[in-house]
Amino acid sequence: MMFNPTDLLRPHLKQLVPYSSARDDYKGKDGVFLDANENPIGSITEENWNRYPDPYQLELKAKLAEIKGINAEQIFLGNGSDEPIDLLYRAFCEPQTDEVIINPPTYGMYKVSADINNVKAKEVLLTNQYDLDTQALLSAIQPNTKIIWICSPNNPTGNDVSLEKIEIILKGFKGLVVVDEAYIDFADRPSFTTRLNEFPNLIVLQTMSKAWGLASLRLGMAFCSPETVAILNRIKPPYNLSGLTQRTVLNALNNLEKKDQMVAEILENREELQNELEALEIVKRVYPTDSNFYLVKMKDAKEVYLKLIEKQVILRDRSKVVLCEDGIRITIGTKEENKKLIEELKKLSN
Ligand SMILES: Cc1ncc(COP(=O)(O)O)c(C=O)c1O
Repeated sequence: MMFNPTDLLRPHLKQLVPYSSARDDYKGKDGVFLDANENPIGSITEENWNRYPDPYQLELKAKLAEIKGINAEQIFLGNGSDEPIDLLYRAFCEPQTDEVIINPPTYGMYKVSADINNVKAKEVLLTNQYDLDTQALLSAIQPNTKIIWICSPNNPTGNDVSLEKIEIILKGFKGLVVVDEAYIDFADRPSFTTRLNEFPNLIVLQTMSKAWGLASLRLGMAFCSPETVAILNRIKPPYNLSGLTQRTVLNALNNLEKKDQMVAEILENREELQNELEALEIVKRVYPTDSNFYLVKMKDAKEVYLKLIEKQVILRDRSKVVLCEDGIRITIGTKEENKKLIEELKKLSN
């Protein structure tokens, strides 16, 4: 039978009457707009922001579709990736009834969002090589399992999980498979967006917060089947992306070169940093990465973390995270920042 996400939808949402506005009926740009209780005079700022933004961000999606080589109907945009993560729970997971599967150690919001939505997140640990345990994953699936969350490249371990294993899950699971590619620009492989037409149950998450350097603007992207996009559109807050975000990102997308330059610089710094870290006596292991950070195992990680905070170098202590014992996550900084980091770590090595 053909996969249809509507079959997975929470029952009460099948009858939902979504919010509508007069601008669903009138699409023109010119007119006397007396429908939305806006201020007709202008804004208190120099630039005018007095009109509500496009709820479906069509101009932005058209540009993204061109860049990603997919259809605009396969794109959902949210206020950071955290919004589609939350909306997927709200659309498909009945509280206290449905389940999802996560693969710790992984990005924390899949579990936090499950907890907020009162949905059980079943944990299937990654292997010791930080790869998917496909056998354990497939046997953890129950009739009420709605979503499997896969993060690749994975946070906090940094590595891509094996792509063949993702494919096994996509083929072996009748629910939704999310592949979170927040760090894809730092990985040397094609995105799973190239496989969307093959797998109607695939949802690829990406973000403008990492390689594009726009974390403050909050823009997360979910690439998936048009049917899944339509479901998310029905339950999202009407104006979830500000006009400022839409306009700024649209301009940014015309500057792909700058993004590529920044990524190249970060990759160069990443390589340098690896060598410097590995030379340190307190460093036990630098894990291979496909992202803009390293997971590093250190002697006395917690101590290192606290000592570096005193020096105003802030790392992410992951030493209490399962399979990350003694682990610290280090974002690749600028050359100067990395130099300061290494200087401070050297002092601790003495
Ligand atoms: C794997 C992963 N997904 C999503 C996000 C969140 O991205 P956004 O800033 O778009 O909410 C992060 C942020 O650290 C992340 O590591």
